[in-house]
Amino acid sequence: MLLFGLLAVGSAYAAFAPDNATADTSAQSQQIEEGKKLFAVGCASCHGLNAEGGGNGEGKMAGPSLIGVGAAAVDFQVGTGRMPAMQPGAQIPRKTPSYTQAEIEAMAAYVASLAPGPAVPAEEAYDVSKATDEQVTRGGELFRTNCTACHNFAGKGGALPNGRYAPSLMGVSEKHIYEAMLTGPQQMPVFSDQVLQPEDKRDIIAYVKALETQKDPGGFGLGRLGPVSEGLWGWLVGIGLLVGVAVWIGAKGVKAKGAKAE
Ligand code: HEC
Ligand code: HEC
Repeated sequence: MLLFGLLAVGSAYAAFAPDNATADTSAQSQQIEEGKKLFAVGCASCHGLNAEGGGNGEGKMAGPSLIGVGAAAVDFQVGTGRMPAMQPGAQIPRKTPSYTQAEIEAMAAYVASLAPGPAVPAEEAYDVSKATDEQVTRGGELFRTNCTACHNFAGKGGALPNGRYAPSLMGVSEKHIYEAMLTGPQQMPVFSDQVLQPEDKRDIIAYVKALETQKDPGGFGLGRLGPVSEGLWGWLVGIGLLVGVAVWIGAKGVKAKGAKAE
């Protein structure tokens, strides 16, 4: 009986497993085919017909090679509407995406099929709905070390040299924050998993999301420029007052002296 059962399971497995595998690969190659077609129409003019970069001279902005940038870069660039780029400028802005998520996934699969690169992160990697206070605090520390130099203490963004800027992080989806760290668009460095481990990235996302919901603590906002500039303001105003008082005392002193001399 037992032997029969084992044999039955074994042969059933042998009969079905390869079928599943071929079904998987054909669905995948269909998606890649679809992505390749979309790419030829919407992206090849700048990135080349085989994503090798350079374009065919039609576009004013030659795009870089996409060999090895990975699915994550495509999902980020097209998902935030940066790609397809529209016009030359110091920086390609975020805009309403022009493709559906299924189309983006197809193009991402196509680019990923050319060479290995960072994959789109799994949802567990950036799900911060159950983040604890400790994780948010830890994320805040990591954020201050790695991100505030460009994106400001409150994640509100800031200017960079040559007309470029680090955008505000408010309202950016969890997945796109993760992908930005993974792929380092433009001036932004790549934060590989050696630099910021997956749980570091998740805690940073939890912190950015907490910033979004945080209420203003009141008082002068000063654009929440952070302790340095707030300190500077206090210093300038304070020194100004002191100088004023000193001048006033000096003037009274001179007057008093003048009165004595008479
Ligand atoms: C008008 C030209 C143009 C078009 C059309 C265009 N791109 Fe780009 N793309 C660029 C340029 C220029 C850059 C470099 C931006 C930068 O980093 O300053 C770029 C960058 C990228 C990157 C980032 C590469 C990296 O190293 O991380 C990806 C991914 C990308 N494009 C994908 C696409 C996809 C997919 C499409 C089609 C939906 C597309 N692009 C259409 C010009 C274009
Ligand atoms: C050296 C400056 C610099 C540092 C440091 C930096 N970024 Fe960026 N970041 C940028 C720039 C510039 C862009 C815009 C890129 C573009 O438009 O293609 C950007 C874009 C982003 C975006 C995309 C926002 C959007 O509007 O779609 C996210 C999310 C992001 N950064 C998160 C981070 C996080 C998190 C860190 C820290 C781990 C970080 N950045 C560190 C410069 C920086």
